[in-house]
Amino acid sequence: MSWVKVLDLDALPQESRQVVKIGNRSILLINHSGQIYAVDSICPHMRGPLQKGEVTSSGDIVCPWHHSVFALTTGEVKSWTPWPPGVGKVLGMMKGEKALSVFPTRVEEGNIWVEVEESQSENRQKTS
Ligand code: FES
Repeated sequence: MSWVKVLDLDALPQESRQVVKIGNRSILLINHSGQIYAVDSICPHMRGPLQKGEVTSSGDIVCPWHHSVFALTTGEVKSWTPWPPGVGKVLGMMKGEKALSVFPTRVEEGNIWVEVEESQSENRQKTS
């Protein structure tokens, strides 16, 4: 594992989000209530775009496609594909429940750092 400097803290104001590329992985940075979170930007169900997901007041993120809910701190599944009613349950059975990948973060001298696997730390690039 190694730490990668990904973004100036100033570029991620409170309640904002930003996708950064580390190696071949797109990581979603979220500043929620002053806490910085780093999670996979792609939903583990059917690759829904989590950068468009709602962040709840309790610190969860909701996938915009089938409304799976994941804890930002641990990636734990709080709800798996409840949407749309009836159909969502079927979609959830097509691909088994899987936690969201989360990454440790730290802020140092005004920069956000994310810890990733060694092989992904060689190339970093902001994507949106
Ligand atoms: S793609 Fe995210 S819940 Fe289905």
